[in-house]
Amino acid sequence: MKSGGMTKDIETKCLHLAEEQEREDLNTTFGSVSFPIFQTAAFVHPGVKDDYTPGQDHISLSSGFNYSRESNPTRTRLEKIVAQLEEGAGALAFSSGMAAISLLFELFNAGDQIVVDCDLYGGVVRFFDEIAKRRGLEFIHADFTRDDVESLLTEKTKAIYFETPTNPMARVSDIAKLAEIAHRHGATCIVDNTYLSPYFQNPLTLGADVVIHSGTKFLAGHHDAIAGFLVANDPELVERLRFLSTTTGAALAPFDSWLVLRGIKTLAIRMERAQENALKIVEWLRKQRNVVDVRYPGDPESDGYAIMKKQARGFGSMVSFELDSKERAIAALTRVKTIFFAESLGGTETLLTYPVAQTHASVPEELLKASGLNDRILRLSVGIESASDLIADLDRAING
Ligand SMILES: Cc1ncc(COP(=O)(O)O)c(C=O)c1O
Repeated sequence: MKSGGMTKDIETKCLHLAEEQEREDLNTTFGSVSFPIFQTAAFVHPGVKDDYTPGQDHISLSSGFNYSRESNPTRTRLEKIVAQLEEGAGALAFSSGMAAISLLFELFNAGDQIVVDCDLYGGVVRFFDEIAKRRGLEFIHADFTRDDVESLLTEKTKAIYFETPTNPMARVSDIAKLAEIAHRHGATCIVDNTYLSPYFQNPLTLGADVVIHSGTKFLAGHHDAIAGFLVANDPELVERLRFLSTTTGAALAPFDSWLVLRGIKTLAIRMERAQENALKIVEWLRKQRNVVDVRYPGDPESDGYAIMKKQARGFGSMVSFELDSKERAIAALTRVKTIFFAESLGGTETLLTYPVAQTHASVPEELLKASGLNDRILRLSVGIESASDLIADLDRAING
């Protein structure tokens, strides 16, 4: 039999913190089953500490909270839930995935080199090219699924950065192997775990140092909130990130924190149901004569399948497929009725996206070539509707 504390299964961890923390939270929220939204900017202080010295932390905080840019009870509850789901020392919640990523890069200095995969969310590539490079950071792109990544690391390399599976090409990298390479060179291993969520994959337990999430996606799960997370293994790194976050001020607002907390309650059942739908859709797509390629990491024939089996507990619900012409791809976007043509992923409703014109519009030609993304590829974020309704809609869109 399981004892209490942190040994619970992931389904339970989506809803509850360790028993002692749950008791403490219930005591401070009038036993509220749904954790409240603490919609306040500031917290009242009972006085000044007796041993007050100028420049020191001198206010006695009866509640442990001071000002919501620094911390807020609703956000803190969410951060604790996400930290336990990713098995990290701590998590920080931000106003978007991009806010989390740009904050993370405050750790690096001019002249530092970051080795990054060639298939990344387009907004991240834009951040590297347009903002981080101007601050003197250097980026080296490689194909993490094929190249000898270790040969690219130098004494200037401070981090390696990748998604697995990647958005949108579903390419899979070996987290444990890459973390080992990074650590041999004193570099930080950063993994964007948005595509699978902590329900299916925990990079920190495989050796990664920092996990990123666009919380907008599977964690919030309902296409109704924008959020981001950083989760780290090392408590000192968590504290450094918290200092940077408090100072720069992109932390997630109380109401949005509550929306993500509520979304996470159903993470397990949403992930399972969406994956079940995705498997049926992949099987159907493979039989369509207008579909020339289907990219899904759960395909036993795919390059990354063996690594997926080793490092993840599932394959997720993101499917990319290539049609036989650009015209058919563009037409499909406007023909879908149950499925929405929209730019996001990971929510209850199924969304169809045109990566070259949307999520990856700002990715340079050479990186598109390296990842294999072209103008005939559509990305499907499978939701939790009926699979047969989704297939009927896709049939009309690509065969109609
Ligand atoms: C893999 C991945 N990482 C990060 C982001 C950025 O997150 P956000 O849109 O919440 O800023 C996205 C957005 O689509 C994404 O797909």
